[in-house]
Amino acid sequence: MSAAEKLQPHSATAQPLFSVRDLTRLYGPEKGCQGVSFDLYPGEVLGIVGESGSGKSTLLSLLSGRCPPDRGTVSYRNTDGHPLDLYSTSEAQRRTLLRTEWGFVEQNPRDGLRMGVSAGANIGERLMAQGVRHYGELRAAGIDWLRQVEIDPLRIDDLPRTFSGGMQQRLQIARNLVSSPRLIFMDEPTGGLDVSVQARLLDLLRGLVRELDLAVVIVTHDLAVARLLADRLMVMRRSHVVEAGLTDQILDDPQHPYSQLLVSSVLQP
Ligand SMILES: Nc1ncnc2c1ncn2[C@@H]1O[C@H](COP(=O)(O)OP(=O)(O)O)[C@@H](O)[C@H]1O
Ligand SMILES: [Mg+2]
Repeated sequence: MSAAEKLQPHSATAQPLFSVRDLTRLYGPEKGCQGVSFDLYPGEVLGIVGESGSGKSTLLSLLSGRCPPDRGTVSYRNTDGHPLDLYSTSEAQRRTLLRTEWGFVEQNPRDGLRMGVSAGANIGERLMAQGVRHYGELRAAGIDWLRQVEIDPLRIDDLPRTFSGGMQQRLQIARNLVSSPRLIFMDEPTGGLDVSVQARLLDLLRGLVRELDLAVVIVTHDLAVARLLADRLMVMRRSHVVEAGLTDQILDDPQHPYSQLLVSSVLQP
């Protein structure tokens, strides 16, 4: 069975939210990613794991419309049910998708937040882009989302730079989720945080993903993060997906020699 076939746990009636075929971008031999295919269903969490330099971030950029592939397709079924070919649509439409139906949580919150404006303004931005102009409504959404990500709503007028790393990351999550996206991309969202802060953020993320029925593609080199959040995993090595399947199957019974090494912690990230 191919890796793509193993990634089909759903009934034939369910429609994928996101279909990826033969996605490839190479910066050099085995540098980048190549031949990646999978389907992602609504509410599903896909983890991408593998050592540093294996191509995880490259793949995420291609999936999220930030970097055109050398070859291959990404098809997204939007809210009105029509499949949209990501790289044959306009740049403007890709950008619109990224701030409405999609979200992107950066590893470094400074890359995903506007550091010069208040926490409330960071949360309100996507709503304003969608046409919400009423101050009270923006304010209420700000307060509501600060609460949801466990930040004291009294901090609404404070600048993100006065927040701790963990709070900044939670603010970035609020900023992304306020527009009710269906699909979120995350690149090592807990990477720069202390272990205790990581655990709390993971708990929060897990709760939100379930509650909001979010589909997520999350890159991590941390198998504990993958175990906690992901329904399915793809293991990358040197630009290839070497194994794909249910998270428990891969972590408890890895088949590919590289996955076996990864799981046995012989490899250090
Ligand atoms: N924009 C780029 N230009 C040149 N090489 C790149 C670029 N982006 C990534 N690479 C190379 O592609 C490989 C995979 O990188 P990356 O996708 O960042 O891996 P990972 O996220 O798994 O650590 C690395 O060898 C990296 O140096
Ligand atoms: Mg990376």
